[in-house]
Amino acid sequence: MIGWRDFCIAFVMPLCITAYIVNPGPVVKATKGQVWPIPEKQDTTTNFLIINPTHFEFQTNVPQCSLLTNALNRYWNIINNHGVGNVRQSQYNEREITEIDGYSGKLSSIKVYLKTNCTGDEVPSDTMDESYEIDLMGVPSTLIAPTIWGAIRGLETISQLIYYAEDGSTLILNTTKISDKPRFPFRGLLVDTSRHFIPKDILLKNLDAMAYNKLNVFHWHLTDDHSFPYQSIKFPELSQYGAYHPSALIYTQQDVKDIIEYARQRGIRVMTEFDTPGHTRSWGEGVSDILTPCYENNAPTGMYGPLDPSADNVYTFIKEFFEEIISVFPENYVHLGGDEVGFECWESNPKITQFMKDNNMVSYVALESYYIQKLLDIVHDLGGKSLVWEEVFVNGVELPNKTIVHVWKGDGYTVLKKAIAAGKPALLSSCWYLDYLKTGGDWDKFYECDPHNVNATEEELELILGGEACMWSESVNKYNFMSRVWPRASAAAEKLWSRKDAATYSEAAQRLEEHTCRMNARGIEAQPPNGPGYCL
Ligand SMILES: *[C@@H]1O[C@H](CO)[C@@H](O)[C@H](O)[C@H]1NC(C)=O
Ligand SMILES: *[C@@H]1O[C@H](CO)[C@@H](O)[C@H](O)[C@H]1NC(C)=O
Ligand SMILES: *[C@@H]1O[C@H](CO)[C@@H](O)[C@H](O)[C@H]1NC(C)=O
Ligand SMILES: *[C@@H]1O[C@H](CO)[C@@H](O)[C@H](O)[C@H]1NC(C)=O
Repeated sequence: MIGWRDFCIAFVMPLCITAYIVNPGPVVKATKGQVWPIPEKQDTTTNFLIINPTHFEFQTNVPQCSLLTNALNRYWNIINNHGVGNVRQSQYNEREITEIDGYSGKLSSIKVYLKTNCTGDEVPSDTMDESYEIDLMGVPSTLIAPTIWGAIRGLETISQLIYYAEDGSTLILNTTKISDKPRFPFRGLLVDTSRHFIPKDILLKNLDAMAYNKLNVFHWHLTDDHSFPYQSIKFPELSQYGAYHPSALIYTQQDVKDIIEYARQRGIRVMTEFDTPGHTRSWGEGVSDILTPCYENNAPTGMYGPLDPSADNVYTFIKEFFEEIISVFPENYVHLGGDEVGFECWESNPKITQFMKDNNMVSYVALESYYIQKLLDIVHDLGGKSLVWEEVFVNGVELPNKTIVHVWKGDGYTVLKKAIAAGKPALLSSCWYLDYLKTGGDWDKFYECDPHNVNATEEELELILGGEACMWSESVNKYNFMSRVWPRASAAAEKLWSRKDAATYSEAAQRLEEHTCRMNARGIEAQPPNGPGYCL
């Protein structure tokens, strides 16, 4: 019988190389000073500039803009510390540096120009302009952006271009010109804080990581069946009785404010999701008479199902509740959920049966649609814009043209195509479920996904606003959150920012190796992406 080793060598040579012929050192060699996600247009030479952090400053034409001043301070610190700790003392002396091939001078300042005024009160939104241009060819060097949001993205890019020279201690960057903007306006990360409570400090650190990856929407899946950690102003009993713990495991109004502000400083929208009518079991702990009582043999079982669409008080409550949400969160869009509604409880309930008969409803899908329609009207009357999970669209609820369809099931592309063909704006998440685990660095399959992998007209493609990586938290808590999300979500971040097919997988692997080390150096507990390797 032929042994595995001989079989391997005879038939699947490439596999054998990884299995048997091992060189010392990292499996994937990290790049130096390369940007993640890859910019739209970049020209880099082999010449380099030196940065001496103690003699480096940003200058700007809008010193009154606090968002910019804060961003300049953050990035000055990142450059100065080159991650954590103080930057090392250069091992070269003056003359040695200038004699190295390609030496192009010292970069002592970068001028940051905004083309519009910025007072510092700006709020990131679905229409924000994140484009920027960088000219780091020598002195003077510039970052030019139409808005503060582009400037923030450009500063991130500049910070990534800088790396240690061969001596391991001198900070340098290749002379570079970049003109950059995102391919998609909506580049999100969903965090579920209901299945497990994710503490505020981790959510803040996660916002830093999102900024390092140019993601711009924190989709906060705040509540679900298992817990209701949002402390409402109007309905404090929701978290009092619905959270895992009424004070230790909740987000207070102050926490929410802090998170919104921290995100705003980084050009990140905080979009909440209050998923109804399903996924609401925890809501019923604090507010009575909103869930459907389940029946068996003509008697209530003591169990509860989705919100009760036949109850008027549900709509009164929903209106009051979303009125609060729309005033607490500056973001225009609210995710209204609408996924995975189980019909068994509705089927069992005689009051629901009667209600459906009275209203000539022949299916539970129709009943669900009745609820969603009313919910959409309520939220839109309050001035909110909406997103819904794909079921709402697939079930044929009449959606306002602007309501975004969030595709999450199957491969995603079929429903994505249907949504845009029907003229609906859409987001893709199906292929970016971070809770699905493979072995290894586990980012390659996320890198294969692309919202533009659909056969559609230019006009239809315009309706694809982007996508979201999703971290459902059944098996994630504060101990493993960061390392499970990063750098796996970075794969989605590049797909959403960069041109289609901007990089091959093997090229991306090298850049991701560097990017992961970069995140580690900045305090993000990202896991190794590519097998054996190291960060300095
Ligand atoms: C940067 O310059 C060095 C030489 O100084 C060169 O080896 C390297 O390939 C350059 N990087 C890029 C991205 O061109
Ligand atoms: C910025 O504000 C100043 C003074 O308020 C004004 O003179 C200038 O025209 C504004 N610039 C732009 C680009 O709006
Ligand atoms: C919504 O879109 C459809 C199809 O594109 C169009 O026929 C209809 O007029 C639009 N409705 C509104 C209110 O804009
Ligand atoms: C894409 O769609 C067009 C129009 O429906 C069709 O003619 C074409 O064959 C499709 N192409 C692919 C690759 O499916």
